[in-house]
Amino acid sequence: MDTILTGMRPTGALHVGHYVGVIRNMVALQKSGAECYFFLADWHAYNALIDNVDVITKSRYEYVKGWIAAGLDPKISPIYRQSDIPEVLMLNQIFQCLTPPGWADRSPSWKDFINNPNASRLLDNVGFFAYPILQAADIAIVKGKRVPVGADQVAHIELAREIVRKFNRQYKANLPEPEALLTTFPKLPGTDGGTKMSSSIGNVISLNETEKSLQKKVNKMKTDDQRGGVEQPGNPDNCTVYDFHKAFSPSNEVSLINESCRAAGLSCGECKMKLGGNMKDILMPIAERFNQISDSDVNDILSDGARKAKVRTHATWEEIKSLTKF
Ligand code: TRP
Repeated sequence: MDTILTGMRPTGALHVGHYVGVIRNMVALQKSGAECYFFLADWHAYNALIDNVDVITKSRYEYVKGWIAAGLDPKISPIYRQSDIPEVLMLNQIFQCLTPPGWADRSPSWKDFINNPNASRLLDNVGFFAYPILQAADIAIVKGKRVPVGADQVAHIELAREIVRKFNRQYKANLPEPEALLTTFPKLPGTDGGTKMSSSIGNVISLNETEKSLQKKVNKMKTDDQRGGVEQPGNPDNCTVYDFHKAFSPSNEVSLINESCRAAGLSCGECKMKLGGNMKDILMPIAERFNQISDSDVNDILSDGARKAKVRTHATWEEIKSLTKF
């Protein structure tokens, strides 16, 4: 059966955008019985946060708590830190020697950086340039085949595929060629209606929000600004509250809300109460579990996860060593 692997960079607070975009999918894949590996891409976070490593260390706890509170079971699949697995860096070194610089140069994350004069100067480093090569090593070292990611990562997975293919040709190996597994839900906007939910913008709902602050944030969300009043029809396609309904409310309720808003049968206030209620039903049990997990539980989970992941990464590395005769 295909092995599934995905990683997230621990670079700040975990929020419901992560939940809807990736974590929900991770939980569903694990429940489907597939063999899964989940890891914190802390080396990938390092090339952007070299001056602020505390953020990586702190968010490690937040991410693991969030994953488990959302339903991942660390007893079934290893949850580990990339930096606990030296074989990742060893394979990265081999992959770097197989990758022409032009391939990394084509990666959209590097191109965005080069073409954006406002991009952080901290990213001006070879580690960031080679970012997708390390990503290829993350995947290949566990023999990952399907990789659940957001749309922004597809080009990286394609590059990983090229690298693995080249490795296989060069050494007559048969590492699985990875494929991106796109999540079903598009990006969740921020509570301000901006295209992206991000802690640095301050438009997030966190995964362990309290009930009170959850409803408060929902009440402040942007609605259709063309709607004159409750007695006039609104346009759900121009409404942040509706975007969140699509992510958190049952589909029959979503269609009903769409119709009643267009027919001026539902006020924005009522609609926000409904959303707050539906989000509460999903998020409060998560917040409760989140708050029950201690930092020391996380440390245990990560060391246990590293131990389990190493069984696979060590075996893959032994094969690679004998193939490359290095
Ligand atoms: N680059 C991914 C991100 O920023 C994180 C990541 C690192 C990853 N290595 C990976 C994702 C391997 C999937 C597979 O979100």
